[in-house]
Amino acid sequence: MEEEGSSAPWWQTAVVYQIYPRSFADANGDGVGDLAGITSQLDHLVWLGVDALWLSPFYRSPMKDFGYDVADYCDVDPIFGNLEDFDALLEAAHARGLKLMIDWVPAHSSSEHPWFVDARASRQSDRRNWYVWRDAGPGGELPNNWKCAFSDAPAWTFDAGSGQYYLHSFLAEQPDLNWEEPKVEAAMHEVLRFWLERGVDGFRADVISNIGKDPALASVEEARAKVPPFVFRNEPVTHEYLRRIRALLDTWPGDRAMVGEIPVFDSKEVATFYGAGDELHMAFNFPPLYAPFEAPAWRERIEVTTGALDPRDAWPTWVLSNHDVPRHRTRYGNEARARAAAVLLLTLRGTPFLYMGEELGLEDALVPAACKVDPGGRDGCRAPLPWSRAQGHGWGGVPWLPWPPDAAERSVEAQRDDPGSMLHLYRRLLAARRASPALRLGDFAFLEAPEGLLCWRRDFSGDCRFVVINFEDRELEWPQDDRHEVEVASDGRGESQVYDSRVGPHQALILKPTRPARA
Ligand code: NOJ
Repeated sequence: MEEEGSSAPWWQTAVVYQIYPRSFADANGDGVGDLAGITSQLDHLVWLGVDALWLSPFYRSPMKDFGYDVADYCDVDPIFGNLEDFDALLEAAHARGLKLMIDWVPAHSSSEHPWFVDARASRQSDRRNWYVWRDAGPGGELPNNWKCAFSDAPAWTFDAGSGQYYLHSFLAEQPDLNWEEPKVEAAMHEVLRFWLERGVDGFRADVISNIGKDPALASVEEARAKVPPFVFRNEPVTHEYLRRIRALLDTWPGDRAMVGEIPVFDSKEVATFYGAGDELHMAFNFPPLYAPFEAPAWRERIEVTTGALDPRDAWPTWVLSNHDVPRHRTRYGNEARARAAAVLLLTLRGTPFLYMGEELGLEDALVPAACKVDPGGRDGCRAPLPWSRAQGHGWGGVPWLPWPPDAAERSVEAQRDDPGSMLHLYRRLLAARRASPALRLGDFAFLEAPEGLLCWRRDFSGDCRFVVINFEDRELEWPQDDRHEVEVASDGRGESQVYDSRVGPHQALILKPTRPARA
């Protein structure tokens, strides 16, 4: 996958497809997706044209946070299969030229992890210091004013057995690991080695900005007392940990890469997690994910991101949807916008991450109160993927969450049969990207455009593409002197024809100059 004339590593040229294993494909018919289900659908992903997969957690877990509460970092939860199923998936992915990244959850474990069971057993336990413990104040007060995610509850839970509070940035069943304890760092490095040895190509590191703590654990201003995203947003020690993680990854052949989740909402701060090219390979940068579908908002977020990353020579990531936020098809309100957004996502400079089902234009499921299961209220975007039109949509049993709207029409089967579908649009975009060094690696520059449009060009060694995105619900004009062919149109209109300077309502286009474009 290396670009001619460039030494770009795979993770810079790849399009990564995120799989939430519970909801992707169910091989054993128990209503919960599994690893064998993923393996059975790899050919479809190759047909679609993605380059790499990121699997959300599949480790042993009590599933209080659906796998982000890990009870054994080096084993597969029986609901998803076993280590042989994992090895089979990895081998099948590699045989098809797909890279595989897995989730690594270093900031907290499950309260059922043997480490925590041991730590809480007594204050004298060998592993006591693997977690963060504090005494109550003189009047029994909490150690500080921090609040955990998902609710406004304190980030501390009192452990009656051992008489101290422990810290949890998320649920009480997800105690924070104490990275100040060298044995914790060593144990988490061991986890990385275990999976590297098995052959994974990289990791998505869960809330990696959380591993370094303010040693004073001091109370903060009330408005910023929520741990994620505010409290440990950028502790200097986190960068030391990251440099050691990077050194470990660098000792393995094959450009093993790490993308870190940095839930801070300031792109300049996100940029610091790349260090001097010696920390994360890539970081998720959430401000664009939360941008409304409006030209000025997107322009601003692209410019701020570029301005923050470029001076460090840091490689951007772009994301529209994931398992934690409402899908962009739902947020943006209609299919035309979601189609235009797909063109945007896949033509920016950086690595795009797709969230399974966005290629089907899935909307969030409406989940009745009786079916809600996630403590963070994120069930809607985690609805199962419909594979076929027929009842059951390719799943053997009743899935763990309700179907997304219009599951039959939006199923993989229905959309593969329809060349005008969202699925085929993604396929054409991925093919165009794969065929164009400019789209994968080229320089990026905004071009003058009337209000409501964003236009940019990408250039790499003589290869050039222009991109036009119409954020408005009316036709706009973007006159061009040079002759351009419409290579991809979000609505399919005008493809392979000469560009006529008109951009339809919410239409987005990739234009290919038919003679060398002027610089
Ligand atoms: C971020 C993950 O994306 C989210 O799903 C999870 O709940 C938290 N980290 C805690 O691990």
